[in-house]
Amino acid sequence: MQAQEIITVENLYKHYGQVKAVDGISLQISASEIFGMVGPNGSGKTTTIECIEGLRQPDKGKVRVLGLDPEKDFYALREIIGVQLQACNLPARMRVEEALDLFASFYQHSVDWRALLDDLGLTEKRRSFYNQLSGGQKQRLFVALALINRPNIVFLDELTTGLDPQARRATWDLVRRIREQGTTVFLTTHFMEEAERLCDRVAILDHGRVIAMDTPNSLVSQLGMSRRVTFEINGHSSGATKIANHAASDFNPALLGVVEGVQKVDQDGNEVVVHGKGNGLVGELVRALENAGVSFTNLRSEQANLEDVFLALTGRAIRN
Ligand SMILES: Nc1ncnc2c1ncn2[C@@H]1O[C@H](COP(=O)(O)OP(=O)(O)OP(=O)(O)O)[C@@H](O)[C@H]1O
Ligand SMILES: [Mg+2]
Repeated sequence: MQAQEIITVENLYKHYGQVKAVDGISLQISASEIFGMVGPNGSGKTTTIECIEGLRQPDKGKVRVLGLDPEKDFYALREIIGVQLQACNLPARMRVEEALDLFASFYQHSVDWRALLDDLGLTEKRRSFYNQLSGGQKQRLFVALALINRPNIVFLDELTTGLDPQARRATWDLVRRIREQGTTVFLTTHFMEEAERLCDRVAILDHGRVIAMDTPNSLVSQLGMSRRVTFEINGHSSGATKIANHAASDFNPALLGVVEGVQKVDQDGNEVVVHGKGNGLVGELVRALENAGVSFTNLRSEQANLEDVFLALTGRAIRN
């Protein structure tokens, strides 16, 4: 193990009958890193994370967390990691403060949970029963419970699922703060924006394998596509006559394939998505559409992102 690596996973396998939930995953995670796993439903994120936490037994492979073997050293590991599970529950009539006291009692060292509640915007819910909390408040409570032993590493499986946009951003700030205090963060998310903004490195999983792993910027720049230009076809103007109804089927994507900087053109009904690079891309596209008499609306240009990386690597959208 290199000095900086605090999680090492080598050739991890976990199959359930015919289902290859984890099919040969290797990862190295450094101290104080915010590391994220993204991937479609069933791609093996939770299985991987739970093998690292010692909650599932891998079929094959080596896992070390701070030098400990999660299977053999489960109790020692529990003291120094924090775990937020994707699916969990508490008794309906347990109060927030009781849950925090209970979880604090599991550990030799715990933090003052009042500050945690404050950070997570839950102070006024301190006396509430668990079943009186909203979905997002429950989620925040589980984040607090995962941090109660001031862990060296915190695992957050679907960190912000169910949170409103404001709570999501507040949670990002919290994650950044805990990293500043020296905690390594290992998270999974379905939100590409979250992975891009929050994570130092991201692993993209598909069918139990890591299909790409790097910093979000490098993943996007390795794609070689810098922009995604999207627009909707209105119709063709033939002289003064606009033929709107047949617009989508009449449109020939090859028209844009020859434009300088264009790498890929996808059409779904009347929506067209062009991937490409170069400063003049948008201008060239608009000129080509106008020259061909194609009327369009709602043209927007965005930076390529992790969704585009996934699409380029697998040929399908991450949410399918
Ligand atoms: N206990 C289990 N028994 C049988 N199959 C399982 C079990 N746990 C997971 N699987 C299967 O393993 C695969 C990976 O599941 P996993 O929960 O790791 O995916 P995930 O990436 O976390 O998905 P999601 O985004 O939906 O949370 C899925 O096909 C799932 O059905
Ligand atoms: Mg999962």
